[in-house]
Amino acid sequence: MNSNLNALIANHTPGHALAQAFYTDAEVFETDLQEIFYKEWLFAIPACELEKAGSYVTHQIGAFNVIIVRGSDDVIRAFHNSCRHRGSVICKAKKGNNPKLVCPYHQWTYELDGRLLWARDMGPDFDPAQHGLKTVHCRELSGLVYICLAKDAPSFDAFADTVRPYLDVHDLSNAKVAYESSIVEKGNWKLVWENNRECYHCGGNHPSLCRTFPDDPSITGIEGGETPANLQAHFDRCEGAGMPSRFFLNDDGQFRIARMPLKEGAESYTLDGKTAVRRWLGRAAFADAGSLLKFHYPTTWNHFLSDHSIVFRVTPISPTETEVTTKWLVNKDAVEGVDYDLNRLTEVWIATNDEDREVVEYNQMGINSPAYQPGPYSAVQESGVLQFVEWYLNTLKRNRDPQAIAAE
Ligand code: FES
Ligand SMILES: [Fe+2]
Repeated sequence: MNSNLNALIANHTPGHALAQAFYTDAEVFETDLQEIFYKEWLFAIPACELEKAGSYVTHQIGAFNVIIVRGSDDVIRAFHNSCRHRGSVICKAKKGNNPKLVCPYHQWTYELDGRLLWARDMGPDFDPAQHGLKTVHCRELSGLVYICLAKDAPSFDAFADTVRPYLDVHDLSNAKVAYESSIVEKGNWKLVWENNRECYHCGGNHPSLCRTFPDDPSITGIEGGETPANLQAHFDRCEGAGMPSRFFLNDDGQFRIARMPLKEGAESYTLDGKTAVRRWLGRAAFADAGSLLKFHYPTTWNHFLSDHSIVFRVTPISPTETEVTTKWLVNKDAVEGVDYDLNRLTEVWIATNDEDREVVEYNQMGINSPAYQPGPYSAVQESGVLQFVEWYLNTLKRNRDPQAIAAE
């Protein structure tokens, strides 16, 4: 497969969609897992989901299952969900709360920081210190928890230091999850991303989102050259009010952050365009601050609004299946039915997610045909897709053979 993949990468026509195998082939999918999902930092959960010591979630990424748990010292840590005795899964549920992590098989009992506390009848030579849970790299960034499955994780600091001032405005540590949805789209994870990175499809597919979200490519795509005057005015207004806003795309293209305006007069993603939550999450200076758009490949895009925030997580399941999890975050003191109506808060993005699922599934179906031939992206409308594909191919090349890139 290595030589096949080399040929696939070498034969890629710049400016065009990827060849069929990138979206359908089991070995390419395995390579995507090995070289991208098992090596890069991945967004996992908002930290507020782990409400107190012992709160945990489990998260499956390819072959790995990970426990993310808040310790008694309030620190969030991640561990492989595989017992150091005979390997059983320790936490069976998707989420829960336990004072200790107890294996269901023979009750080996681990502290919340991963140390093995108790194992029955293991004899005098047994050393519990050698049998703690295996750790997964874990970082909390302004209320967002990222993990990395690699033995040696790439640096997280440049990303964290850049986006922290933007995120801190939104005070995600004082959030609660008002609602979450998980859908499985029958499409390759890269199709989910390609669809996310353009709004060429918005006018024809997203009637409710388009009430408030502009399909202007300078907002959804990547900045090329001069910042348009309307955007610059928005950045200046927000920054003048203490909200970092200007467009930033890092050199290797893995993440972008920018506070983009919504349509004239719109404040939030609701059908009438007004805010959905009376008690705001964060300290936006005004309601029409737009949406702080952040993406970080390969797992997350986000919208941080004046009144609430929405975080999305992409998890590949198979060559043609991808889970998309969406969480709506509101101020932890906001009361449902008093400060917000749950339906009003969620209806635009529930509909939008379903519309996106449908276009991604039809895209995958068409690509499955032997007649599929990669067509050209629109440089005007799909600069974000071009940017994603470039990041994907470069990351694949670099992570498969770091020395090759260093020598280039
Ligand atoms: S496999 Fe976990 S205690 Fe035996
Ligand atoms: Fe969409």
